[in-house]
Amino acid sequence: MAIKLQTDSYNLIGQSNGILQVFDLVERAADSDSTVILTGESGTGKELIARALHHNSRRDSKSFVPVNCGAIPNELLESELFGHEKGAFTGAMQTRIGRMELADNGTIFLDEIGDMPMTLQVKLLRVLAEGEIDRVGGSKPIRINVRVIAATHTNLEEAIQSGKFREDLFYRLNVIPIAIPPLRERKSDIPLLVQHYLKHFNTQKGKSITGISDAAMEILCSYPWPGNIRELANFMERMVVLSTDKMLTPRDLPDKVLGDVPKETWEPLIQAETDQTPAEFLRKSRNHAHYIGMPEEGVNLKQMVEEFEKELIIEALEKTNGVKNQAATLLGLNRTTLVEKLKKMKINR
Ligand SMILES: Nc1ncnc2c1ncn2[C@@H]1O[C@H](COP(=O)(O)OP(=O)(O)OP(=O)(O)O)[C@@H](O)[C@H]1O
Ligand SMILES: [Mg+2]
Repeated sequence: MAIKLQTDSYNLIGQSNGILQVFDLVERAADSDSTVILTGESGTGKELIARALHHNSRRDSKSFVPVNCGAIPNELLESELFGHEKGAFTGAMQTRIGRMELADNGTIFLDEIGDMPMTLQVKLLRVLAEGEIDRVGGSKPIRINVRVIAATHTNLEEAIQSGKFREDLFYRLNVIPIAIPPLRERKSDIPLLVQHYLKHFNTQKGKSITGISDAAMEILCSYPWPGNIRELANFMERMVVLSTDKMLTPRDLPDKVLGDVPKETWEPLIQAETDQTPAEFLRKSRNHAHYIGMPEEGVNLKQMVEEFEKELIIEALEKTNGVKNQAATLLGLNRTTLVEKLKKMKINR
């Protein structure tokens, strides 16, 4: 089942009990104006759920303003959130409106709230308690009406214990807690997500892969998905880009998947589907960068070299979280050469 968001074309996908409970909370909490705190591992969908809450509320026609508290240096965060008056500090040439004011009558999404410094936590408390902010260097408070949604992948109760998070703020924020379970605890969502991303990347990459074999699907369902849905999306993109067949099969699975799923699980599945022993499978049909050796039937050199190149490029991008400068360094290429190759291969990260 999928909740259709009212104004966006994207869907929330899931059918497991765990995610259905989340969808149910989203539907009930969306229009309440109450503060929501989203918890969940990286890549579980915290931001997507925050957007769903906003789009299903009466604030939908106003802004949804995300702020990643962990990504903005502490000394800039206050002015980023609350704005500043001209001359408030060296370099403040003009009055600047902060994100809180931009979110007036809409929703502010405070991502990685656990990283917010204590001094700002006090100011956030004031927004929640009194609906007022002060621009940096401002002389009179400004009234605002924002709905606050916060997210964290760290445990705030532990942060309170160690003196890094204010307890009073925690209770103000924790009105409606929504915990998004990791993908490995809702395995029945994996096939839906795999099919969804297969379709999505087929269209985006102009490929026409018709499906995925049972063995490949079962192996994907047994993988622990430490990076959750973001990792699944990346793997699907990679498989769709690299595959040269009509069907995705175990030979298309990234090495990491076979490495992290117990052998006892994948070996019999592969044997049953391919009629190859696991050793033969690994030697002959793996479509991967570490392939060496010449099979009896020979190879298509051009195609193999291209696949090898693609795979190394994708691996470099994965290792560097998509930072192209760093990926280019890993590959011994100029950034511009890498960018050209990505364009040619229709890889966009
Ligand atoms: N239920 C879902 N259905 C479809 N796609 C989803 C779902 N949940 C998450 N995604 C997709 O997974 C990716 C990661 O989601 P999102 O950015 O919301 O995660 P996050 O919890 O904010 O991650 P991080 O902690 O790393 O910031 C996005 O591309 C999002 O569209
Ligand atoms: Mg996020």
